[in-house]
Amino acid sequence: MRKLSKSVESVESSLTLRIDSKAKALKKAGRDMVLFTAGEPDFNTPEAVKKAAVEAINANFTKYTKSSGIVELREGICEKLKKDNGISYSPDEIVVSNGGKQALYNTLGAILNPNDEVILFTPAWVSYSPQIRFWKAKPVEVETFPENGYLPEKSALEGAITDSTKAILFNSPNNPTGTVYDMKTLEMIAEVAKKYDLYVVTDEVYEKMVYDVPHISIASIEGMHERTITVNGFSKSHAMTGWRVGYSAAPLEISKQISKIQSHTTSNVNSIAQMAALKALTVDTTYMMDEYRKRRDLISDLLSKAHFKFFKPKGAFYVMVDLNEFLEGRKTEDLCVELMEKAGVAVIPADGFGAKGFIRVSFATSQEKIKLGIERLTGYLK
Ligand SMILES: Cc1ncc(COP(=O)(O)O)c(C=O)c1O
Repeated sequence: MRKLSKSVESVESSLTLRIDSKAKALKKAGRDMVLFTAGEPDFNTPEAVKKAAVEAINANFTKYTKSSGIVELREGICEKLKKDNGISYSPDEIVVSNGGKQALYNTLGAILNPNDEVILFTPAWVSYSPQIRFWKAKPVEVETFPENGYLPEKSALEGAITDSTKAILFNSPNNPTGTVYDMKTLEMIAEVAKKYDLYVVTDEVYEKMVYDVPHISIASIEGMHERTITVNGFSKSHAMTGWRVGYSAAPLEISKQISKIQSHTTSNVNSIAQMAALKALTVDTTYMMDEYRKRRDLISDLLSKAHFKFFKPKGAFYVMVDLNEFLEGRKTEDLCVELMEKAGVAVIPADGFGAKGFIRVSFATSQEKIKLGIERLTGYLK
């Protein structure tokens, strides 16, 4: 057999998905299980959005669209970016793609050459490294720590830069840590990016889920618009994970390349989903965000009362809990399997995100389930 792609072979299958499917299988087999594994909102897509999709079908809006997306949607996204994020783009600078995930993949393809390096702050979302590798470039990890609020430090960032560094890729609000980068941190990243002439790829899919602090887009900082690619989408903000609508916003020269990749791979995003997303731009989802805040407060309170070591999230819907003291020689993954089988609570081992001995607990579930799940976790471990 001829050899397969080294860059693809070097990527491992997702531990998150493995654990999640085991938990779901146990649940299906009749086991009582609290799932803290979800990477998606537990809300339904808003009615008005679903209605817009039905109307699009009935109106036979079912043909190919422009590869970068229908102009009304791109115009709407420009308005949103101006209003919510303080960044100005023209519709030609927006590419609507199959989720934020494809927007990221296209973006990396547009800026990377083989062996270029991309700096990531760990713990980091599991798909960044594989995506970078698929384009035959190299992820370079810069660690962040709960003691510092999971914020990157300038010395560590500059220490990771080499002649091959092409970009810094980060995610705020952050999956899995729940941190939100403040202005000081963003200004530090901006200063470094300008000094070393780097691109910045910013993944802002959780922007609506912020609790005590504002979300700030790095592209709004002076001198950053020209070197920043902002990725966002409708999955988390409008409970639309299955619809697969995300987008990138970048200066025209970069957007043209992003669009080229998309046109030769997936063409346009499903035409009906685009009409749904257009409607979503007018739908207020504050009620979802208010509920996430209540859950964040509840889970933090319960973990704190049970004396767990954890980072109180400022954004997104995850909380990182340090289980190192309970490992007793076991791998985090094994402890998570044990928790599933013996305590009826499913959590994600965060080793795959770059946080050894930690678990990621998703609070995209009801307050009732949160109470029950933390009770089980506490009962089993403490
Ligand atoms: C950090 C982060 N970025 C991007 C995505 C991609 O979301 P989607 O492709 O559904 O827009 C996710 C989804 O879990 C995520 O957690």
